[in-house]
Amino acid sequence: MSKENNIEDHYSHSSLLVSIKKGLETQGKNPINITLDDIAPIDEFHIGGRQASVDFFSQLDFDSSMNVLDLGCGLGGPARFVAQEFGCSVTGIDLTTDYIDVGNQLSEWTGLESKVKLTQGSALDLPFQAGSFDVIYMMHVGMNIHEKERLAKEAFRVLKPRGVFGIYDVMRIGKGDILYPVPWATTDKTSALEKPEEYQAYLGAAGFSSLSIRERGSFARDFFEQMARKMDSIEGPPPLGLHLLMGSNAKEKASNVLSMVKQGLLAPVELIALKVS
Ligand SMILES: C[S@@+](CC[C@H](N)C(=O)[O-])C[C@H]1O[C@@H](n2cnc3c(N)ncnc32)[C@H](O)[C@@H]1O
Repeated sequence: MSKENNIEDHYSHSSLLVSIKKGLETQGKNPINITLDDIAPIDEFHIGGRQASVDFFSQLDFDSSMNVLDLGCGLGGPARFVAQEFGCSVTGIDLTTDYIDVGNQLSEWTGLESKVKLTQGSALDLPFQAGSFDVIYMMHVGMNIHEKERLAKEAFRVLKPRGVFGIYDVMRIGKGDILYPVPWATTDKTSALEKPEEYQAYLGAAGFSSLSIRERGSFARDFFEQMARKMDSIEGPPPLGLHLLMGSNAKEKASNVLSMVKQGLLAPVELIALKVS
């Protein structure tokens, strides 16, 4: 199996749509008449969920005339949020076919199918012409990508001059062994954690200038502690939540990341870069 097939295999979930429908119905909601807030607990697959998207996107200066690319869009929650909140046209690309299929269905259910197009493919080989996008962003995807130099070059190629590339990834900020499983990988074979300085070097080599960097360790800690409380509550986990994407060992994955964040080994980091010309 190729590395990309292994990654798709890790995320694949053939009964996801059924689980989401069931979760919505348990809350008395009709799938064909839902809002982005109804599905945010499951379609924002990154540390901090919707709040992390709000915080990250506030730095990307979107406006309604923009064509935006979401690299590794997953189910497309962030893409739908950008389309609804800022009026942008958003294209998402992701390796995992199940996520693309379910994501396009969720765009229809939320009435955003004309603004959000999700397509299956690799961030390392983008099926877009040079200079197609005003803004590109990527949330919790680089942890699966060993070829970050190529990723940065592809993003640079398809971005317009003066365009911004925003990254919100879990990065290595200290020394120590990685505890597996984690939400993005079961073993080190498909995990590609790197330091913020390494990301900056790849971006710089591709031609980007660095605009800003922000570490979000304590935000991550609060998020995982809250998630653990919900999963351990007497009522059990909520009908819709990231545990549905992370599988039967969701608790172990979340607890491993929390302990590495507490140790100062990992943290989610936001990095914003500019394609000057
Ligand atoms: C943790 S999920 C994040 C999904 C989404 N960005 C979000 O924040 O909700 C990571 C996603 O990256 C995708 N991915 C990993 N490597 C990729 C690649 N080379 N090209 C495109 N997508 C990739 C996976 O399929 C998965 O959907």
